[in-house]
Amino acid sequence: MSSLLRIVRFTRSLTPLYLTIIAASVLTAVANLAVPFIIGRATDTVAGAVGGDLATGDAVRTVLWLAGALLAVELATTVVSNVGGWFGDVMANRLRTILSVRYYDKLLHLPQRWFDTELTGTIVARLNRSIAEISQFAKTMSNSFATMLITTAAVLGISAFYFWPLAVLLIIVFPIYVWLTSLTSVKWQRLEGEKNTEIDIASGRFAEVIGQIRVVKSFVRERGELGDFSRRFRSTDATTRAQSTHWHSMDVLRRAVLNIIFFAVYAIIFTRTVQGHFTLGEMVLLIQLMSMARQPVESMSWVIDASQRAIAGSKDYFRVMATPVDARTAAMLAAQEDADSSDGSGGAGAEEPRRAPGSAAVGTLDSVPGAPVIAFRGVDFAYEDGEDVLHGIDFAVDRGEKVALVGESGGGKSTIVNLLLGLYEPREGRVEVGGLDTEQLPLDALRSRIGVVFQDASLFSGTIAENIAYGRPGASQEEVADAARRANADAFIRRFPGGYEQLIGERGLKLSGGQRQRIAVARAILKDAPVLVLDEATSALDTKAERQVQRGLDELMEGRTSLIIAHRLSTIAAVDRIITLEDGRIDEIGTPAELAASGGIYAQLLALQDSGQTKRLAKFGITG
Ligand SMILES: Nc1ncnc2c1ncn2[C@@H]1O[C@H](COP(=O)(O)OP(=O)(O)O)[C@@H](O)[C@H]1O
Ligand SMILES: [Mg+2]
Repeated sequence: MSSLLRIVRFTRSLTPLYLTIIAASVLTAVANLAVPFIIGRATDTVAGAVGGDLATGDAVRTVLWLAGALLAVELATTVVSNVGGWFGDVMANRLRTILSVRYYDKLLHLPQRWFDTELTGTIVARLNRSIAEISQFAKTMSNSFATMLITTAAVLGISAFYFWPLAVLLIIVFPIYVWLTSLTSVKWQRLEGEKNTEIDIASGRFAEVIGQIRVVKSFVRERGELGDFSRRFRSTDATTRAQSTHWHSMDVLRRAVLNIIFFAVYAIIFTRTVQGHFTLGEMVLLIQLMSMARQPVESMSWVIDASQRAIAGSKDYFRVMATPVDARTAAMLAAQEDADSSDGSGGAGAEEPRRAPGSAAVGTLDSVPGAPVIAFRGVDFAYEDGEDVLHGIDFAVDRGEKVALVGESGGGKSTIVNLLLGLYEPREGRVEVGGLDTEQLPLDALRSRIGVVFQDASLFSGTIAENIAYGRPGASQEEVADAARRANADAFIRRFPGGYEQLIGERGLKLSGGQRQRIAVARAILKDAPVLVLDEATSALDTKAERQVQRGLDELMEGRTSLIIAHRLSTIAAVDRIITLEDGRIDEIGTPAELAASGGIYAQLLALQDSGQTKRLAKFGITG
């Protein structure tokens, strides 16, 4: 229940809508209550005329007036309830919008670590279900709850006025009904939770499979994947059977109790009418009031049910909302928002480093004079508790220097990039950029200094131009084309029928690996950051294409500080220094010439290359 209150508090801006809807349902309830009174009066009039106590002409006039009153009341009900319905629709949608946007906003604030363990499709499925259930509940509740409450109170009052035992009978119905319903609900909800878990898992896998359909096809795993999917869904069939059996047998019990109580109610009304305590009109009035009271009782089970679902949904929702955000991401986004609202030209922290091309770029942000551009100081790091991936990493890269990281696959090279970008924080030690601890730097200031080309090109659906300009949405067409030319991508882009406006499919699926990588390189070129990180940036290219991209990269690296995770020894030969990694530890640091002579990993690699042992080289992610 508290989670439902949280939703009301969460969506305080909707209060006027809530109040309007409640007002509409109060009016509907009052109008509804007028009906039995009018019909009761009409019955008495008719009975009077039939019994000869009333002149027929007078009686006809009266009943016609009463019929007219009924028409007015019912028309009013029709109009008011539809107006309420309109506000209900608007409110439910606004609620869904608010909840969805906040959820997305929250997800964008969560640390990288959180995403490492969650399945995309599961996140989406859970979001959709919980938000749908909450807004559905809010809509139906706001449209019917006030009506129900008022009707019930009025019926109790009126029946107490005519004969108090009737009110007593009605009063006992409610607790019994609520008790039986909540008994039902506990088990029902547990089973519903089991079903949702299965469906969320299946949906997570579903999204993954559709996203990587090529792999599925190539390994002929369609039947296997479909089998897992249908097994999960079929298991919900069995759960549903148990769930529904339980619900309906409880409903039989519940309704039987209700039937027995109403038997007593009707017996009382009929007997007392026969005994002359009630007129015919009063009998008709009471019978109608009683059937009006049935409605809230019966929908009580629905209300409890739907509220339990909404509670479950909002728990899922608020569990994600309660995940601690990445404090630095939160601080960064808050600062950007402040800057946006104060001058409308974007935050200084985010914009400043972007406009510093070439060698002058380094150090345009405040940095400690003379400090190395990148420094790892005794860094230990673990993705998960216990298992360190990096041990005592200690190195520095000076301004304008090109440094290569070499080591076996899984040795921790990409992890070093992740730490440099502040995606994770070191367990021990510090990562510094410009002499400043990266944990103290605003993330946007840090990340805007670093242009990265990742190992997997990671593009988005949309056009090529949008992808190249991802880090600088305001870039002109010429700037985009210039970056593409330098990444040796311009020629192939122009060959597409759509050119720069060509749509490239989800994650750039319509491009070849090499094309994707060149677009990723162009994206980094356009970002024009003083520090460049290439994580096997050209691994998907053939030798010829790589050489061409390499020229662009060489030009890009000119005057910048670069960290290169290399893929070909030929690339590494041109760097200033090489750092070799072994099992997350630094093995050696030195110039290519020094390391070639030292007999360490690099020297061994060179020897392997010379003797043509490409297989062993491949283990290092290196080709001739
Ligand atoms: N997100 C992650 N969660 C847990 N372990 C990870 C994650 N990313 C990488 N690892 C582990 O960290 C180690 C280093 O990986 P990585 O830095 O990607 O290696 P490299 O880039 O040198 O090939 C590997 O053992 C890998 O299994
Ligand atoms: Mg890697």
